[in-house]
Amino acid sequence: MAALSFELETTSVGSRARAGKISTDHGEIHTPIFMPVGTVGTVKAVTQQQLKDDVEAQIILGNTYHLYLRPGTEVLEAAGGLHKFNGWDRPILTDSGGYQVFSLAANRKIKEEGVMFQSHIDGSRHLFSPESVMDIQRSIGADIIMAFDECPPYPSEYGYAKKSMELTHRWLDRCIQRLADTPDKYGYTQNLFPIVQGSTYKDLRKASCEYIASKQAVGNAIGGLSVGEPEEMMYEFTELCTENLPVDKPRYLMGVGTPWNILECIDRGIDMFDCVMPTRNGRNGMIFTTEGVINIKNKKWATDFSPIDPGLDNEISRFYTKAYLRHLFVADEILGMQLASLQNLSFYLWLVGEARQHILAGDFASWKTGMVDQVKRRC
Ligand code: GUN
Repeated sequence: MAALSFELETTSVGSRARAGKISTDHGEIHTPIFMPVGTVGTVKAVTQQQLKDDVEAQIILGNTYHLYLRPGTEVLEAAGGLHKFNGWDRPILTDSGGYQVFSLAANRKIKEEGVMFQSHIDGSRHLFSPESVMDIQRSIGADIIMAFDECPPYPSEYGYAKKSMELTHRWLDRCIQRLADTPDKYGYTQNLFPIVQGSTYKDLRKASCEYIASKQAVGNAIGGLSVGEPEEMMYEFTELCTENLPVDKPRYLMGVGTPWNILECIDRGIDMFDCVMPTRNGRNGMIFTTEGVINIKNKKWATDFSPIDPGLDNEISRFYTKAYLRHLFVADEILGMQLASLQNLSFYLWLVGEARQHILAGDFASWKTGMVDQVKRRC
């Protein structure tokens, strides 16, 4: 089958925003796009049918770290890959586990070879190397697979950030070699995205972009941002990266972010986003709507019988009321988390879809300014 391809449809005037189309063996993705996070092979509290019919998700994420620990590659291979296992027949992207090993696992030891760590589930010991992570992602069978990287914390000292970036680059070369040495497992093409690192140092970020661009991958990612640095700094470094990455390849900003972060970074030339925020914060009662952000547990919603979000053309957002959703949260009912996740994901997908329409129509820059204020509003 065919390698991933990217068609750049339009670039905005007065902005770096772009509209494009990514083609994979599991279908097309219209960019800019938000990718719901399905860490262990499920977007929490949402079925695959709902993801298609209600959320209109075009691609979802999985995580190498979690899927390797549970259910494990033996089960995934026996199923014929993650698409067959979970019934999602559109594109899937898997993160490499680099980030999760640093945020979740215990007793990590980073060496040239890879990272030794203990599972957060049962304390068992494992080694992730660029080679083993490519092998695991081959078994999972995602359409887009991420290089094994180290994401340094914020702030990091210059010396550490430089060494870490160089290690990530050497690991990238090993990832590329391993993929070249191993065939696709399931008859469709898996595509590697390298990851730019370099912390919050301009010369390092620029060097990392140049190194990553020289690999001529079909798409490129920016990591190590939204890790605690001020928002303005995240925007500045995102722009520095998009200025130094190829124009004709999709650009993926990992782990970002709030609705306004996404709009600002589309403006700076990002095509792909993922974040746990709509699902994780949704399960805690934070509801993103076209009217602004709602804390649904607040007493003020107790008798508000207006739809959750009248601005979305979505059955769930229009059928259920704010008062009912609040009741579900106060009573600790499972349906509350389901409805909140569906609302938030539908809103995120609506937002990137609107951004795309305005890029195509040529009025993205002015639309964005008003929309940032609207989505930031606290109701
Ligand atoms: N998710 C969010 N940030 C990162 C990153 O820097 N690296 C990886 N692999 N995943 C991420």
